[in-house]
Amino acid sequence: MTTIAPAPALRGDYGAAAADYTVPQRHAGVTPAEHATWRALHARQSALFGRHAARAFREGVAALDCAGGVPDLDRASEALRRTGWRLVAVPGLIPEDAFFAHLAARRFPVTHWLRRPEEMDYLEEPDIFHDFLGHVPLLTDPAFADFLHGYGEAGAFAQAQGALRPLARLYWHMVEFGLLLEDGAIRAYGAGILSSATETVHATEGPVPRLRFDAARVLRTEYRIDDLQPLYFVIEDFRELFGLLRGLEAALLRARDADPIAPGAVLAADTPL
Ligand SMILES: [Fe+2]
Repeated sequence: MTTIAPAPALRGDYGAAAADYTVPQRHAGVTPAEHATWRALHARQSALFGRHAARAFREGVAALDCAGGVPDLDRASEALRRTGWRLVAVPGLIPEDAFFAHLAARRFPVTHWLRRPEEMDYLEEPDIFHDFLGHVPLLTDPAFADFLHGYGEAGAFAQAQGALRPLARLYWHMVEFGLLLEDGAIRAYGAGILSSATETVHATEGPVPRLRFDAARVLRTEYRIDDLQPLYFVIEDFRELFGLLRGLEAALLRARDADPIAPGAVLAADTPL
């Protein structure tokens, strides 16, 4: 899930959505062909998880037990009871204020439609495969789940202070494209990485800078949305993300007032891993 305002080019039916942009999932209406596409996508990605995905992510995938077909969001929400999150269906990308409000209420919005078979490799909008298999596994991890809740709570402040850009950078680099140093190896946990076969290998083993996480640096770092990422940030524990919430408002204001850092730029002060 990324956050831009709905535009006419988006695929979802926004006319059918409630004021908070939720829609019924209508899981019973998922076709056998869609379930087959899901199984193919899931099999291809999960074959990469053993080598490339963080342990907490792999455990989340196992808990969700969703290899057999497009998941039922209400049923899957049962697996999130321990962290207090719930999944809601949406038509696709939703406006920032609605997105933050869902996260702040521990609701994760999941696009209800699945890509077509000819879109296995690339899709411009997030679909249920990206939103679910990419994002939901880590909602079973208490530290990450608490971070994402606090992230949502920061949305209203950022909006009022003209600091949405740094907040969006935090989501991009650490929720969509975050890496974890685990048992001496670089593993992926970000949804944008782990829902893409190409990016999964590129992010963890490709010839690309992987920098030790620095919150102030991340909040200033611009990104590209149309290609593999030119650099990644690495944490050692999800508690690092939760810890940055404490000073987040002040950090957002500093980042708002600082010069942005170009996508892919490596600075003298960086710590490459
Ligand atoms: Fe996403």
